[in-house]
Amino acid sequence: MTVRQLKPNIYSIGAIDWDRRLFDELIPLPDGTTYNAYLIKGSKKTALIDTVDPTKEKDLFDNLKKINCKDLDYIIPNHAEQDHSGTIPKVLEHYPNTKVVTNSKCKGMLIDLLAIPEDRFIEIGDNDTLSLGNKTLKFIIAPWVHWPETMLTYLKEDKILFPCDLFGSHLAVSDLYAIDEAKVYESAKRYYAEIMMPFRNNIKKHLEKLKDYDIELIAPSHGPIHNKPAFILDAYKDWISDDVKNEVIIPYVSMHGSVEKMVRYFIGALMERNITVKPFNLPKTDVGELAIALVDAATIVIATPTVLVGPHPVAVYATYLANALRPKARFASIIGSYGWGGKMPETIKGMLGNLKVEILTPVIVKGHPREADYKSLTTLADEILAKHKAINIIS
Ligand code: FEO
Repeated sequence: MTVRQLKPNIYSIGAIDWDRRLFDELIPLPDGTTYNAYLIKGSKKTALIDTVDPTKEKDLFDNLKKINCKDLDYIIPNHAEQDHSGTIPKVLEHYPNTKVVTNSKCKGMLIDLLAIPEDRFIEIGDNDTLSLGNKTLKFIIAPWVHWPETMLTYLKEDKILFPCDLFGSHLAVSDLYAIDEAKVYESAKRYYAEIMMPFRNNIKKHLEKLKDYDIELIAPSHGPIHNKPAFILDAYKDWISDDVKNEVIIPYVSMHGSVEKMVRYFIGALMERNITVKPFNLPKTDVGELAIALVDAATIVIATPTVLVGPHPVAVYATYLANALRPKARFASIIGSYGWGGKMPETIKGMLGNLKVEILTPVIVKGHPREADYKSLTTLADEILAKHKAINIIS
């Protein structure tokens, strides 16, 4: 990656990972990602904000060389996860006098995860500042975006917020700034859905704090920099709000066609009622797409056949994921089939404990759906319509 200048003496020196397709061995990365690191040269001191994933260590060192960074006074990790912190030990080896400036929780985690010696740290607290001479860094402790030690760093004189993961996107692009807004919006929403959504209420508090800051640039550690901060701040305000949309998402799996018939019929019934429907055929779905849909939907309907005595394992995975991501959905239901018995709906219901949803009457059929079963699906569609009307998301 090349060195790019954001403002005089402030540089983006991280790495673009064009080819990465999976994060945490779980999250699909259809567009790769970046590990952004920022070098700030003050009149007296130089600081590096975050580093890069260890796989891209060479890129960071090449950039430090290009920029002729002979002395580095501070590394400021906003977050201890290794995609940002993993290269700190190598940087400390290369610059023996560099200190790691972070909060106590992050310090503890970096000692545990990367065996960084305790005497290399300078500990800071909420609202503390660090002078680089003509530039001042202010630290905003912001736990749970998405680990307990996360913080944000604000560069006062240049009005730049460095929030690490927050406001980021897994998007490998050559643009320094978020120019392609439609693409960045989709990637940032996917990132929010997969990483940040379970911590919606913590993020609400942090956004309140940020109202006191004059921000010209938001420079996250994944994806392009926001030179129109309102674009991403407004998107986050929408995503973290309690507002849901007139949408039903249907994660489904069908083995012999019975559930498929029910889902097809049910999609039509919801469409006739002017409800937006988003079906996800789970064995063929990128789970990131499902996560994005979970951000706004008022209702989730899980559709699965019975395998042995419970839901199809693919439906179990999707239900577990939906429960873990804690979307703001208000209603949920289950549709599906069985051959001779089982406890499929009870199992699914038992897996939704994190969601504050009202469970609407499930529709479970024996074998293939018959006329009475289609009527039950119509009734469920009517019930969803009534619920959506009751919370004023459809007129
Ligand atoms: Fe990009 Fe939570 O690390």
